[in-house]
Amino acid sequence: MTAAFQLDNIKINASGKTILSVPSLSLDAGRITAVVGPNGAGKSTLLRLLNVLNKPTEGMVRFFGENLIWGRMSRAKQLEQQRQMSFVFQKSVMFDTTVFHNVAMGLKFRKWKKSDINDEVMRALEWVGLSDFRDRHAHTLSGGETQRVALARSIVTQPRVLLLDEATANLDPECIEIFEDVIHRIRKESGTTIVMITHNLQQAKRMADICLFMHQGEVLEMAETEVFFDRPAAKRLQDFLAGRMVY
Ligand SMILES: Nc1ncnc2c1ncn2[C@@H]1O[C@H](COP(=O)(O)OP(=O)(O)O)[C@@H](O)[C@H]1O
Ligand SMILES: [Mg+2]
Repeated sequence: MTAAFQLDNIKINASGKTILSVPSLSLDAGRITAVVGPNGAGKSTLLRLLNVLNKPTEGMVRFFGENLIWGRMSRAKQLEQQRQMSFVFQKSVMFDTTVFHNVAMGLKFRKWKKSDINDEVMRALEWVGLSDFRDRHAHTLSGGETQRVALARSIVTQPRVLLLDEATANLDPECIEIFEDVIHRIRKESGTTIVMITHNLQQAKRMADICLFMHQGEVLEMAETEVFFDRPAAKRLQDFLAGRMVY
């Protein structure tokens, strides 16, 4: 199976300590990987590394076989790699304009034709159940609607990889269901690679092919979802799944 990401000897240091240490990690293309673990485990740091936002202190990351490139000197290359990925955060910031233009922005940057932009934006809005919201000002949306627009904005560019950092953390069950359906659908229809951080273990169980447990900057366990939940090997993961987190 092709690796969407291959990490080798990764270390990220910040404020004099190592906040991420991953000797070797491979994330399969076209699969859904859930990343779980307590607060401060390094989950967001890992995702930001994949998205070429955090630069490793040591080591390297291959993205579909090609080295990820950081730094000012290679800004164009970095941008090209970042444009193959979309990121949805827990709290999305909307541009000060309509829902339509919020979703269209990425396509305009990519210099898409106007008619194609219109078609794709309306398709993405339909996917998240917000077709009627195209002319609403984004700042008048509820939290759940904002997250759904953020999801539409992230899938409209047809990314190779979709990264989600606690994207459904503040959503009600109905919104979460819409989110999960869209994620399943984009993976099925486009073979998109999904890496999602979640505190919702039921969500990880429902969604993920593979789960990864992080603790103190390290990946302590990685397994197919069924094995991960039914037969966790690491003592810390057993405790975490049982709601007895030890620090
Ligand atoms: N720029 C930084 N400088 C210093 N410490 C950082 C920085 N970024 C993250 N950290 C620390 O690294 C650890 C992991 O953070 P993070 O990846 O956000 O964890 P998680 O997403 O799992 O909650 C935390 O202890 C956090 O305070
Ligand atoms: Mg985080």
